[in-house]
Amino acid sequence: MSKKLYIETLGCAMNVRDSEHIVAELQNKEGYRLIDDATQADLILINTCSVREKPVSKLFSEIGVFNKKKKAGAKIGICGCTASHLGEEIFKRAPEVNFVLGARNVSKISQAIKSEKYVSVDIDYDESSFAFGDFRNSKYKAFVNISIGCDKKCTYCIVPNTRGEEISIPAELIVKEAKKAAQNGAKEIFLLGQNVNNYGRRFSDKNHKKMDFSDLLNMISQIDEVKRIRFTSPHPLHMDDKFLDIFASNPKICKSMHMPLQSGSTRVLEMMKRGYSKEWFLNRALKLRQMVPDASISTDIIVGFPGESDEDFEDTLDVIKKVNFEQIFSFKYSPRPLTKAAEFVNQVNSKVASKRLQRLQDLQQDILDEISKKHLNRVYEVYFEEKRDNDMLAGRSDNNALVQIEGKDEWLGSIKKVKITNPKRLSLYGEVLS
Ligand code: 5AD
Ligand code: SF4
Repeated sequence: MSKKLYIETLGCAMNVRDSEHIVAELQNKEGYRLIDDATQADLILINTCSVREKPVSKLFSEIGVFNKKKKAGAKIGICGCTASHLGEEIFKRAPEVNFVLGARNVSKISQAIKSEKYVSVDIDYDESSFAFGDFRNSKYKAFVNISIGCDKKCTYCIVPNTRGEEISIPAELIVKEAKKAAQNGAKEIFLLGQNVNNYGRRFSDKNHKKMDFSDLLNMISQIDEVKRIRFTSPHPLHMDDKFLDIFASNPKICKSMHMPLQSGSTRVLEMMKRGYSKEWFLNRALKLRQMVPDASISTDIIVGFPGESDEDFEDTLDVIKKVNFEQIFSFKYSPRPLTKAAEFVNQVNSKVASKRLQRLQDLQQDILDEISKKHLNRVYEVYFEEKRDNDMLAGRSDNNALVQIEGKDEWLGSIKKVKITNPKRLSLYGEVLS
């Protein structure tokens, strides 16, 4: 009988892909089967995120809960970014944990399950060419990693300390994986990296052909079976004209761009060490709007970064009003260990930060009301990927709007033209034209 695996995944798309890799290794090499009931599992894994404090503090209470409900003899493993940064300390705080496997050590999962109190959290470990087995959560869409780690030194961010320095994955491996996934039915390829448009900065193999992200996009778009390409996250600093041109002109590249602003104030951006100014960001975003009027732009914003004044925050609101983002992920600044900003002496009062966050989110709601009205009667190409509990088929338009229709199951996995008849803030409802 096969052993049973339960895995909980927190955090970003990189973590989702890491979890798929873990499942693939355990299924293909160790005879595990994925289940969704932790009480029946022989192995419980939590793939953690440490980008903000909240999920980290919740981790230990969660371990306690799993420990109580797990069946006798079942093991608990902690993986991901919090594993990287806390390492052995996890055993001290939670002795019931059997192993700790860092975000850059995923390929060692087979070793981890076989040894007692195994710890591997080396952030210099190079797994950029490791051939993981096959497992994907979705038949229709495939995450494909293009790099590991991050070379940026944003002063608020713990990730360079959990995922190590940036290494690009060899282009031929990426193309091979994208091709295989597409031939197995994933029409959409989702390229993943901490800074995707910095691709090519460093390969482990010094003889790798010199190339950048735009070149990689061109290569992937030449695979016949690939119909759509998405990617996350690009860095605004590296949004040069070559990149914007291929984004605009290559028909397979979906017209939605994530542009993590973080702050609209040049002064705060300098303190964050983001490498660009308010003007550069606006220049890139507005150029993109002009080149691809239908494109959607999403962003990440941190409010209450140390030293952020009322005027700085007004600059952030100003950028929001000028760009009209289709989606904003907004966060209150959370001081993280191992980061420069955690030592800054001018931390912003938590209540002030909460008020700013509320103002920002209120403004965004108004913008979204306007944006959703514009979708009425528009026709979008939608790739249907999921049947929802409400029995509707759901998919994404090319520009990343969630669209739901009443449709036939056999439409799952196909791209259809949909006319939007009822646009709501969070989802657009429509009917299929062809
Ligand atoms: N506090 C709050 N938000 C953060 N992010 C990264 N580090 C922090 C932090 N210390 C946000 C950024 C990033 C997103 C993934 O998480 O906006 O783009
Ligand atoms: Fe992803 Fe960053 Fe969270 Fe790690 S810390 S899981 S890289 S969001």
